[in-house]
Amino acid sequence: MATQWPNKSERPQKARKTQQLAGKVAVITGASRGLGLELAREFVRQGARVVMSDIAHDELHRVAAELGAQAYIADVTNEQAMFELAAFTKRTFGSLDLWVNNAGLWMPHCPIEQMSLDRVHRMVEVNLFGIIHGARAALAVMKPVRTGIIINILSTSALIGRPGSSGYCASKCAAMGFCKSLALEVADDGIVVYNIYPEGMQTKLFDEQRPQDYTDYLDPRVVAMKIMKNLSAKKPKGEFVIRRAKQKY
Ligand SMILES: NC(=O)c1ccc[n+]([C@@H]2O[C@H](COP(=O)([O-])OP(=O)(O)OC[C@H]3O[C@@H](n4cnc5c(N)ncnc54)[C@H](OP(=O)(O)O)[C@@H]3O)[C@@H](O)[C@H]2O)c1
Repeated sequence: MATQWPNKSERPQKARKTQQLAGKVAVITGASRGLGLELAREFVRQGARVVMSDIAHDELHRVAAELGAQAYIADVTNEQAMFELAAFTKRTFGSLDLWVNNAGLWMPHCPIEQMSLDRVHRMVEVNLFGIIHGARAALAVMKPVRTGIIINILSTSALIGRPGSSGYCASKCAAMGFCKSLALEVADDGIVVYNIYPEGMQTKLFDEQRPQDYTDYLDPRVVAMKIMKNLSAKKPKGEFVIRRAKQKY
């Protein structure tokens, strides 16, 4: 089902037909595991040259070598590091065609009064500012050549409130505001933005405390496939909600 837009001005730009990925250069943040890793796998499979980035992660170099991708350690909360990642990619591969803002942080469900505000601040730094930094770094390379694709991994938690999850929902909802504005703002610069809203996925995001219905969650490989399918669709959705059940947001 298509996302309902309250008014015309909020609609994302009409996504143009995505070019083939073979030979394209892609950066993915938070790529050492979970959805980021599955997206990297798919991009490589389709012939893209991929820079897999993550915050100092033991696994990153191993999985990147396994896929034949480039590993690059960078913290998305550090804007300078994101600009360096974009510059490194351009220097190494000669272009930067796709940037996936995927890195994310969650916190175990708890009542608002018991939330660690330090953790909420960190979540906003990663889930909101991580995307802002990534987008600005990508635009620095993409805008001058008037082409590029930015994919933002949000969450259905951006679309609704969830008891016990106010901090995470707030961080994703704020990021959604940025991402929708980004899509509209760069539409005339030849840059296409895809905002993705997956439902729960079975990943290590929940290592500290798995939600009760975790076993019903989506396989991140399935979500990655759906994102790829949307990218190559005749009419890709600029705003793409990926559900695990028949739920409406
Ligand atoms: N899993 C779900 O149910 C679900 C649902 C909807 C949306 N999402 C979103 O999907 C995206 C991918 O999540 P996932 O489920 O695949 O989680 P994941 O398995 O935890 O992967 C996220 C990756 O991001 C990295 N990361 C965290 N902070 C970072 C930072 N400051 N800089 C760079 N990398 C950082 C993590 O590294 P560390 O291990 O070192 O933290 C981890 O490798 C996130 O944006 C998440 O919010 C997830």
